[in-house]
Amino acid sequence: MEKKAGQNTEYVVIKANEDGVNVIGLTRGSDTRFHHSEKLDQGEVMIAQFTEHTSAIKIRGNAKIMTSYGEITSGKE
Ligand code: TRP
Repeated sequence: MEKKAGQNTEYVVIKANEDGVNVIGLTRGSDTRFHHSEKLDQGEVMIAQFTEHTSAIKIRGNAKIMTSYGEITSGKE
């Protein structure tokens, strides 16, 4: 399939290592604020993209984050 200009096909995978991990989406543009918060329980996985609306993702709690840049753990190791 053709990739449209500016269309992001990459995903960020977040796997919660404990209950109550928060995945927070921050808005794109001059006003940077939270627009969505998703709570994951242990073992739950969220697969997300950076979009027209989302420029940054903040993760609170112990989770494994997998991106094309590599893997990182948030919270305690
Ligand atoms: N409606 C949001 C958007 O299209 C949904 C979303 C995409 C999101 N990526 C996210 C929410 C990452 C939280 C975190 O941008």
